[in-house]
Amino acid sequence: MNNDFLPLHGTDYVELYVGNAKQAAHFYKTAFGFQSLAYAGPETGVRDRASYVLVQNKMRLMLTTPLHSDSPIAAHHKKHGDGVKTLALMVDDAYSAFEETTKRGGKPYMEPISITDEHGEVRMSGIHTYGEVVHVFIERKNYQGVFMPGFKKWESSYNPEPTGLLYVDHCVGNVGWNQMNPWVKFYEEVMGFKNILSFDDKDISTEYSALMSKVMSNGNGFVKFPINEPAEGKRKSQVEEYLEFYEGEGTQHIAIATADIVSTVKALMSRGVEFLKVPNSYYDDLLDRVGPIEEDLEPLKELGILVDRDDEGYLLQLFTKPVEDRPTMFYEIIQRKGAKSFGKGNFKALFEAIEREQETRGNL
Ligand code: FE2
Repeated sequence: MNNDFLPLHGTDYVELYVGNAKQAAHFYKTAFGFQSLAYAGPETGVRDRASYVLVQNKMRLMLTTPLHSDSPIAAHHKKHGDGVKTLALMVDDAYSAFEETTKRGGKPYMEPISITDEHGEVRMSGIHTYGEVVHVFIERKNYQGVFMPGFKKWESSYNPEPTGLLYVDHCVGNVGWNQMNPWVKFYEEVMGFKNILSFDDKDISTEYSALMSKVMSNGNGFVKFPINEPAEGKRKSQVEEYLEFYEGEGTQHIAIATADIVSTVKALMSRGVEFLKVPNSYYDDLLDRVGPIEEDLEPLKELGILVDRDDEGYLLQLFTKPVEDRPTMFYEIIQRKGAKSFGKGNFKALFEAIEREQETRGNL
């Protein structure tokens, strides 16, 4: 860790560009239990966009919408629909993060800047990654305000209960044919990440489709970015469907941690979040596959929660359906009980569930 040239303390925020941030913010409050945190827009002197920042425990979500058709945000939304623009990372020093990554080949997105208000200073900088996604480095150790300069506290009288979402566990990128390894190299060389796990098409294939994946992690494991690319199968894979409908590479899913997946998923479902469903037969031999677990099987089966085990423990996980009409970005809810892996034992059942959804969309 001594020679870690890009020390990261985790995900600072995830920013989505959306068609209507006011309505999206309502959805994330109502359905996911996020809380109102901060706002920037015409009322705060920003002329080209409105941004709503929501929070739940350590996870911050920013929803940004353009106010005019000639904005790059509007062009992004026209091409991709709603999707992730920024995976912002918490750093000690935004100036050095920029210098260290750009000198290793990172493409500049934002030159280092210092922004201040009466609550202190935030420094930030940024580089491009796959597709139109960017990493913004946020240094906030000298800031005591609610979010960052330029934003005002967002007071709301509508404050639905949180659902137990804690923090971003990992964010997965979908890249094009033969692009996984170049992006693995980018995370290794430009950001100092390590490839901690790899899956090939033999691990991740069903009767019809396949994909390959490599998991990239920073030194302390706080930031993990699996990178997927499609693999040859008999029919169109979920990654190909994503690339077609997102019209390019982009963030496929954001996994959010919970300490109690049964109560979190129950709450999300009761608020209208839709999840993928595996067949009930998945549970017939579950305990033979994963060994003893602390949870009762019945609620897991009722909610469709998946379980997998690795050398270090087990994990429970579940995936939402895409949260926009294009079959693009979705969320994963994950509870880790020692396991540091990503649910390889569930891939087949899960991808068959995704294919059933693709079939209903006419995209398999
Ligand atoms: Fe995941």
